[in-house]
Amino acid sequence: MQSNGYQSGFGNEFASEALPGTLPEGRNSPQRVAHGLYAEQLSGTAFTAPRHQNRRSWLYRIRPAAMHGPFELLPQANLHNDFDTGPVTPDQLRWSPLPLPEAPTDFVAGLVTMAGNGSPSAQSGIGIHLYAANRDMQGRYFYDADGELLIVPQQGRLHIETELGVLDVEPQEIAVIPRGIRFRVALPDGPSRGYVCENFGAFMRIPDLGPIGSNGLANPRDFLTPNAAYEDIEGDFELIAKFQGHLWRAAIGHSPLDVVAWHGSHVPYKYDLRLFNTIGSISYDHPDPSIFLVLTSPSDTPGVGNMDFAIFPPRVLVAQDTFRPPWFHRNIASEFMGLVHGAYDAKAEGFAPGGCSLHNCMTGHGPDAATFEKASGIDTSKPDYIADTMAFMFETRNVIRPTRAALDAAYRQRDYQACWAGLRKHFTA
Ligand SMILES: [Fe+2]
Repeated sequence: MQSNGYQSGFGNEFASEALPGTLPEGRNSPQRVAHGLYAEQLSGTAFTAPRHQNRRSWLYRIRPAAMHGPFELLPQANLHNDFDTGPVTPDQLRWSPLPLPEAPTDFVAGLVTMAGNGSPSAQSGIGIHLYAANRDMQGRYFYDADGELLIVPQQGRLHIETELGVLDVEPQEIAVIPRGIRFRVALPDGPSRGYVCENFGAFMRIPDLGPIGSNGLANPRDFLTPNAAYEDIEGDFELIAKFQGHLWRAAIGHSPLDVVAWHGSHVPYKYDLRLFNTIGSISYDHPDPSIFLVLTSPSDTPGVGNMDFAIFPPRVLVAQDTFRPPWFHRNIASEFMGLVHGAYDAKAEGFAPGGCSLHNCMTGHGPDAATFEKASGIDTSKPDYIADTMAFMFETRNVIRPTRAALDAAYRQRDYQACWAGLRKHFTA
């Protein structure tokens, strides 16, 4: 399937048809749909969710989603949502990039669970996965009933064919696939790597802006939802479902990407992180990192996110008489960071593109010794342009529990804490 272009906006009622005249007028479910299609509703929120939080789409498709064989369990040890209840270390943790596979591995097979909290059954919390893959999904389609997927590619473009159309994303862009939407991923650049946040909670949305006003941060018009595109093919295919923490496989005799037209609000989308309107201090100090918030999945407590997705993009630092890198801090929230591109301004080395770190609730962290010494000595009457960078954070209210596989991984940096060991005592009474 080729991209048919995009529609712009966030949370809109979108509409698109790959064949003109397909969308019914005035009714969602007419007695007969044009071109002999089936009408099907896909609801991403409770039917009675408040209107501005309600997400559902109407799909007009060649065959209904119910048509497939019985599911059987598909063992995939690397991917799960078992964030066990045993002791969890308060250590600062960091990993080098997940190695690229040597054996043929597609996007789904290449998912490795690093950490998480909550569960799909509680509809709260997140799973944090990395992927490293080297071939297209061939004859298989995937959906996640457990959560929406925030995909952050770090190496290689992704060509994501979904029921509602095609998303082409590259590093420094993100893709979001809502709960339940079936899709297939091709890798136009071959070996590819990135991060996935699987959000079990309320769907992500752009934050309210408060005193910032009506513009800024991620602007709604920069979110792109695909136009309808479909394939009408038959064969011996597989439908892979992620359901309650496990993968399931069913035979399907046709492509489930057979939606000819659709309208609604439960939609996939992409966003270019380079378009983020970054806001910061023009006097002294710098605001809390919530100023870098792209998307938030709210919890039931006002102002507290189930998951916040923040980025640290290129920016000019001008705050005077101020320690400009992120300060030393401890936080009630828990922070999983990744680096898509360039260097991160709080770490001189060791945090490579494709790598990740985890600083849990109240665990002290901040700039390493080299960064502290440098930033303490610079002339802050002059601006500092952080040009070549794109880091991000999945931040949660609940502790992020690393998996046993992540703790035992050969690519975990067991000497990470040494980056603060060189901080000298400067105190004089
Ligand atoms: Fe932090």
